[in-house]
Amino acid sequence: MAEKERRLYIAGNWKMHKTSGEARTLAAEVAKAVGGSSRTIMIAPPFTALAAVRDALDSSRVRLGAQNMACEESGAHTGEIAPAMLTDLGVETVILGHSERRAIYGEDDTLINRKVRLARAHGLEVILCVGETIEQREAGEAETVVSSQLEQGLAGVEELSGVVVAYEPVWAIGTGRTASPSDANAMHALIRSNVESWYDRDAAEALIIQYGGSVKPGNAAELLSQQHIDGALVGGASLEADSFVAIVRALE
Ligand code: PGA
Repeated sequence: MAEKERRLYIAGNWKMHKTSGEARTLAAEVAKAVGGSSRTIMIAPPFTALAAVRDALDSSRVRLGAQNMACEESGAHTGEIAPAMLTDLGVETVILGHSERRAIYGEDDTLINRKVRLARAHGLEVILCVGETIEQREAGEAETVVSSQLEQGLAGVEELSGVVVAYEPVWAIGTGRTASPSDANAMHALIRSNVESWYDRDAAEALIIQYGGSVKPGNAAELLSQQHIDGALVGGASLEADSFVAIVRALE
């Protein structure tokens, strides 16, 4: 199948898994196995494993990502990690607004937007996660919820380069349930048309929109072949080199 004009971007979110030793081993395996891939690839280990993963990635083209970031530059914020601490470790990308941060830690759109703007000010690529819960979907609110999260998350962001959007229906994360490829594609198309109306056509066409939620080697090709699906944000299947690499290689 012909590659889309937008380069597919596969990202691994390791969540709260892997000690630094385990992370180093996995990162080295991934880096070795994806050497010849034309995809954009990123892995986001826990903060405590960032340095080990950076060393393991060495000169590989796999990007180093973080899973979260503070909304302030520095100061009295016990337990938080500042953007400059991430860039100092070689982090290039930060995942913001993940549904687990929203649901478990109460992050709202205003806080997420502060983080998005701060990350961009530090030159960090942002993966902004949006997605509806099952209750919202069943109430017919999925489109409104996703559009609102996106609009608030991007408020005051003038330039969209350096921003990736991940559509992750909450009910599909870690559950083995995925949105059907056509339903996911329809939401991605809506995201792109929103972005066109807020920015312009070029920005919308260039925007990478990843799908996330139980992406596995067995469903990756069908999802990634959809017109508006430009990559995947992978949780569970990124914890083993074989399954993550199979997703990176899907359709190649
Ligand atoms: P999952 O997680 O692939 O395990 O469903 C995706 C995510 O939360 O980013």
